[in-house]
Amino acid sequence: MKLKKWWHDKIVYEIYPKSFMDANNDGIGDIKGIIGKLDYLKELGVDILWLTPFFKSPMEDNGYDISDYLSVNEMFGSMKDMDELIEKCKERNMYIMMDVVLNHTSSEHNWFKQSRKSKDNAYRNYYIWRDEPLYNMESTFGGSAWEYDDVTNQYYFHEFAKGQPDLNWENPKVMDEMSKCINFWLKKGIKGIRFDVIHLIGKEIDNNILSYGPTLHKKVHELYEKSYGKYDIITVGEAWGDLKKAIDFTNPSNEELDMVFQFECTSSTCDFSKYGKFSPKPIDMEFVKNTLVKYQNGLNDHSWNALFVENHDLGRCINRFGSLNYQDMSAKAIAIMNYCLKGTPYIYQGQEIGMTNILINDINDYQDVEVHGFYKDLVIDKKVMSEKDFIKACNQEARDNNRTPMQWDDSINAGFNKGFKTWMKVNDNYHEINVKENMKNSDSIFHFYQKLFAIRKSEEYGPTFVYGKFDLQLPDEKNVFVYTRNYDKNICIVVNMVESEQHIILPFKVKNIILANYNKEYHDGNIKLSPFEAFVYEY
Ligand code: GLC
Ligand code: CA
Repeated sequence: MKLKKWWHDKIVYEIYPKSFMDANNDGIGDIKGIIGKLDYLKELGVDILWLTPFFKSPMEDNGYDISDYLSVNEMFGSMKDMDELIEKCKERNMYIMMDVVLNHTSSEHNWFKQSRKSKDNAYRNYYIWRDEPLYNMESTFGGSAWEYDDVTNQYYFHEFAKGQPDLNWENPKVMDEMSKCINFWLKKGIKGIRFDVIHLIGKEIDNNILSYGPTLHKKVHELYEKSYGKYDIITVGEAWGDLKKAIDFTNPSNEELDMVFQFECTSSTCDFSKYGKFSPKPIDMEFVKNTLVKYQNGLNDHSWNALFVENHDLGRCINRFGSLNYQDMSAKAIAIMNYCLKGTPYIYQGQEIGMTNILINDINDYQDVEVHGFYKDLVIDKKVMSEKDFIKACNQEARDNNRTPMQWDDSINAGFNKGFKTWMKVNDNYHEINVKENMKNSDSIFHFYQKLFAIRKSEEYGPTFVYGKFDLQLPDEKNVFVYTRNYDKNICIVVNMVESEQHIILPFKVKNIILANYNKEYHDGNIKLSPFEAFVYEY
């Protein structure tokens, strides 16, 4: 990595606006709510706020179904609020990253409304229409990916919900329209973009190629040239794939993206050969470790990693990678394990206070279109799963888990609002797990993250965490992850990833402990690690 970028040492915090803070008490989070919490976020030590889509939308998929890219969803506030948010961030040296959905729009978008009117409408070719459903393609949210439309007696393709028709990126007009939308926001001072399911825009539907189509990289590069390449921003693509594909996207000479989210680690808690995310399997921490190592080594000198364990599509990391028996220690171990690696840390709202999955046992209490799509498909139509097993899977993997209102304090609705309703159930454990409680306790998960981020940015150790070489140590350990970072300092990271005690021989002599979750004395040689014990030291 020769060229240094302004964002290399920055921390990104993901906000799901609908669930973050409801300033006007209508049950739905809003932009004013975010503005009111900027000082809190600053105190945590984050710099860039990734907001999931805040544009006009019927909210079938909570904003990932956009009906107007140039406007702000009224339920979140106004364009004026958005301008104010950008401004208030700037005052605090903070930045906004927006979430752009290029693969599809809402069926309520004017382009689609036009498109469905007639076969010769000027917008017909903005979407994918065929006389017959091709290749039995299935939607990511369950059921067929083709929807019959009786207006013109054809089918349109939707990778996701019916209300999310896929754009036809083989039509160059789509590229022009989208470049304009992106430039509109960049001119307003947005400093980052997260590209939703970017690996899908090169699809060749007639050849049954959906992801990583032959023209994908050409398209992303063209988008770069026509829009964000002209601005000094940070970009990250959501790209389900493998290491080679991540390199193709992020190699700076390709001029595409700065980094991608890869899901090899975070999706390893499900058996995708069965019922997708609704077939959970026991976590294999050795696999997690090996995968993290693979990406560290693989992207090292070419490009850049995105470090994350949670987002709005995954369950909470304590439930999936840690343990409810060791909530505090496992949350901190996960923090050390991931955010001392090389790359940009992304943290999801509530992760910093140790929020956990919610226990919802009634299918009707789930809000997510994905849950209902698969419920219909697997339980009702195909009858391959019992309701009980399906709910059990939801308890671990449903996206609703991460979408419960942010837990600010122990007052009504966890302080998310002062009203009596919330769009989504509040997790009952808010009496114990909330921001206020975390702030009181100097040993809390919040303060642990705060320390970790401060160290990553400190003059003393920062450069080593940001630019230091990564090396795996003790490669034969299955449950303990030990690695070093070397630059102007030599730092060693030790993480017991499991609930049982582990014995190791420490690879280097401890000079100075930088961060630890247990309050222990450390020396050399043989050491016994407690459950989820993790520490960082200079050697
Ligand atoms: C991405 C988003 C997810 C959304 C889907 C369709 O995976 O993260 O929330 O449902 O794309 O836009
Ligand atoms: Ca509101």
